[in-house]
Amino acid sequence: MWLAAAAPSLARRLLFLGPPPPPLLLLVFSRSSRRRLHSLGLAAMPEKRPFERLPADVSPINYSLCLKPDLLDFTFEGKLEAAAQVRQATNQIVMNCADIDIITASYAPEGDEEIHATGFNYQNEDEKVTLSFPSTLQTGTGTLKIDFVGELNDKMKGFYRSKYTTPSGEVRYAAVTQFEATDARRAFPCWDEPAIKATFDISLVVPKDRVALSNMNVIDRKPYPDDENLVEVKFARTPVMSTYLVAFVVGEYDFVETRSKDGVCVRVYTPVGKAEQGKFALEVAAKTLPFYKDYFNVPYPLPKIDLIAIADFAAGAMENWGLVTYRETALLIDPKNSCSSSRQWVALVVGHELAHQWFGNLVTMEWWTHLWLNEGFASWIEYLCVDHCFPEYDIWTQFVSADYTRAQELDALDNSHPIEVSVGHPSEVDEIFDAISYSKGASVIRMLHDYIGDKDFKKGMNMYLTKFQQKNAATEDLWESLENASGKPIAAVMNTWTKQMGFPLIYVEAEQVEDDRLLRLSQKKFCAGGSYVGEDCPQWMVPITISTSEDPNQAKLKILMDKPEMNVVLKNVKPDQWVKLNLGTVGFYRTQYSSAMLESLLPGIRDLSLPPVDRLGLQNDLFSLARAGIISTVEVLKVMEAFVNEPNYTVWSDLSCNLGILSTLLSHTDFYEEIQEFVKDVFSPIGERLGWDPKPGEGHLDALLRGLVLGKLGKAGHKATLEEARRRFKDHVEGKQILSADLRSPVYLTVLKHGDGTTLDIMLKLHKQADMQEEKNRIERVLGATLLPDLIQKVLTFALSEEVRPQDTVSVIGGVAGGSKHGRKAAWKFIKDNWEELYNRYQGGFLISRLIKVQWLTPVIPALWDAEVGRSPEVGSSRLSWPTCYQLRDLQLIKWLERLRLSSRVTQLLQLSVPSSSVVKIFC
Ligand code: BES
Ligand code: ZN
Repeated sequence: MWLAAAAPSLARRLLFLGPPPPPLLLLVFSRSSRRRLHSLGLAAMPEKRPFERLPADVSPINYSLCLKPDLLDFTFEGKLEAAAQVRQATNQIVMNCADIDIITASYAPEGDEEIHATGFNYQNEDEKVTLSFPSTLQTGTGTLKIDFVGELNDKMKGFYRSKYTTPSGEVRYAAVTQFEATDARRAFPCWDEPAIKATFDISLVVPKDRVALSNMNVIDRKPYPDDENLVEVKFARTPVMSTYLVAFVVGEYDFVETRSKDGVCVRVYTPVGKAEQGKFALEVAAKTLPFYKDYFNVPYPLPKIDLIAIADFAAGAMENWGLVTYRETALLIDPKNSCSSSRQWVALVVGHELAHQWFGNLVTMEWWTHLWLNEGFASWIEYLCVDHCFPEYDIWTQFVSADYTRAQELDALDNSHPIEVSVGHPSEVDEIFDAISYSKGASVIRMLHDYIGDKDFKKGMNMYLTKFQQKNAATEDLWESLENASGKPIAAVMNTWTKQMGFPLIYVEAEQVEDDRLLRLSQKKFCAGGSYVGEDCPQWMVPITISTSEDPNQAKLKILMDKPEMNVVLKNVKPDQWVKLNLGTVGFYRTQYSSAMLESLLPGIRDLSLPPVDRLGLQNDLFSLARAGIISTVEVLKVMEAFVNEPNYTVWSDLSCNLGILSTLLSHTDFYEEIQEFVKDVFSPIGERLGWDPKPGEGHLDALLRGLVLGKLGKAGHKATLEEARRRFKDHVEGKQILSADLRSPVYLTVLKHGDGTTLDIMLKLHKQADMQEEKNRIERVLGATLLPDLIQKVLTFALSEEVRPQDTVSVIGGVAGGSKHGRKAAWKFIKDNWEELYNRYQGGFLISRLIKVQWLTPVIPALWDAEVGRSPEVGSSRLSWPTCYQLRDLQLIKWLERLRLSSRVTQLLQLSVPSSSVVKIFC
């Protein structure tokens, strides 16, 4: 039962307050900032770019669109006939249009004569065109006809070309689309705003031996009159939909198909000869569609859904209605050559994009300001779906280490931003596809789901999807539906989480009062840089759960903390019982326990009676409180001792991430060797227990844990691990014994880190020979582990070579930056030296910001950052300036390092029973 109702005064006040790569890369995989990053010169902060939405006087009803791509010339011809409604008499039509040449345009009022446009005025900065007519277009309906031409670009946005190699080794190109957020306008002139929905009749003129796909099923295919090598493929009319969800693909593909339980035809399209690799995703998709149908109680509205792997693809995947596009690595699974984490990733991505078919496609955000709702929701429900399909993945615990803690790390920085940000110009829209929209968005929805309860949440979702189907909605509309379904103050609670940045630190202390436990709670904004200072500390309405050792899996009490301070009485709690906040690590807050409370929790970690996700959350809170200087790092390392018996993969993975940060920091001190010893001490027992080969009865999580632990030990130079890795690598290369897919990353990493030029050459050869993109990516991501300066340079050069797909260059450079101290400096220099080329390659798309968000930890970098990038008008949005966010994180880490250096609590450390004499040396 939820105890306290919202205090109206606080609610009112807050209402108006006003965004998996292996951890060894230290890459921040959030997206943002398409930008004019042409140069890295010093300049003042940029100004917000002016922006106006399209006028509402003319709007589309149906687009009849025919496109004829030329796969050799990389151009396309287009014909648009749009049924349009003139709502207000006008003599011009303003539409979105970018990188397209209009040849002719006319408007024919229904039953009247065609009026030819006499001028096309392109406003390039605004990505608009104004068509001027010699006479007034009267209110009513009519047909707008536009003939145009464009280029099949190589920038992975709009209508673009994607390179592939045929099984016989010939290089060819496919024509594919990526329209979200605002690139449909690069394929055809249109009203490219999410709220301007219309139906689409699409046809494609393509070579007769090519596959042509679009959102809907094919209804006609006939020879093209002017050329016998071409056919015209016509697709069924779509439901009303937004332009960013339109898609078409022309290329050579194989497919596997099935029909889902609810009667939808599902196909997975793969490169030619690789249909088998589509089977896993097909199975997931076929299970997922009925799952969502049941969950939302709304059927999937199209007759078919295709999932297709695209060779050159900037994002991970895109939810185009009925034709979902994926990077190859987010869709293809080879039973022999794919590792467990790839399967999991494919399942999550399929779950994510299929959720959008309802949440996003059927009901669409009114404007990009509400994009977080789309992405946050899909990023939450993908886990629900994978938990349904693969309960053995224990995926919710992984959610906490992948999304929840990452969001908290960024959101604790002073220049984070609220989930909901108002955006205008396209350049601002791309910026909000970031970890705050995705991971914080998903985390607060998870908290909300828990607060409401599954039954009412489902009921509210159905109300929302039914009420707004084929229309648009804003964040408030969802709150209203959920409020109606649950009777709880959803808007008041959620506004505190979406309209203000950051989250609270709940401090708690306890007192035994006879048979009861009295808890004193207080909330304050959690700041990565230390305690919140200043007046008017923001407040949140925090759903808090409390459990005790009597039943660690059950909330003994649930409260809604709607004040800065609260006292809570837990009835019948014996003095020897522990009390813990935030059961399941669901609430989006950090907890600081009094020393006594923390002490009492340690046996629960040691004997594993505290659930894994609670152990993980506790450990993560402690590390970040230490990083913020609120508690001492020594205390945290002491708590680590309680994790000696830890069996859980995800807990280890989070712990190892935190230790990794510490170890990277210490690479700048004389204590680097010592921390390596410490890492070896921590991971050896579990490494020995797991061994190298799977034991009978082991599952998915054991495979993940083995890879993690062996990678850690190998990287730290653990002798036995290094020797065995070398032996197995040799056998692998000689073809005597092929490494299992799950062991490849840790083995590659180990031999490279401790290898020489010959090892690197062998790896590059393996890369060249690899037929699967997953294997190529696996190698690309570990190349940066190499230590010798010459080899590092070689890897950086390789990153920009033809061997690496354009979307993967970023992870090679990121691997170098995260691989070693020297690598970090070299990567930074490389980026500066090759800026023009990198910028041109991505045309400011969000990959460029992934690149600049690679987390460097070299102390000199923040200074450089500030001077060269942080204040550059070309980086980040006009107001939001994300790179600075990362700069702040680096600075915060450096402060932590300084504190560690000053730490002199030797006596406490000597008392540590952690198997690590080395820790003592580090802090002496
Ligand atoms: N709608 C996005 C794709 C997208 C992202 C388009 C950025 C334009 C800009 C899609 O639903 C998505 O979120 N894709 C993720 C993968 C997902 C599993 C988190 C991606 O591309 O990283
Ligand atoms: Zn998404």
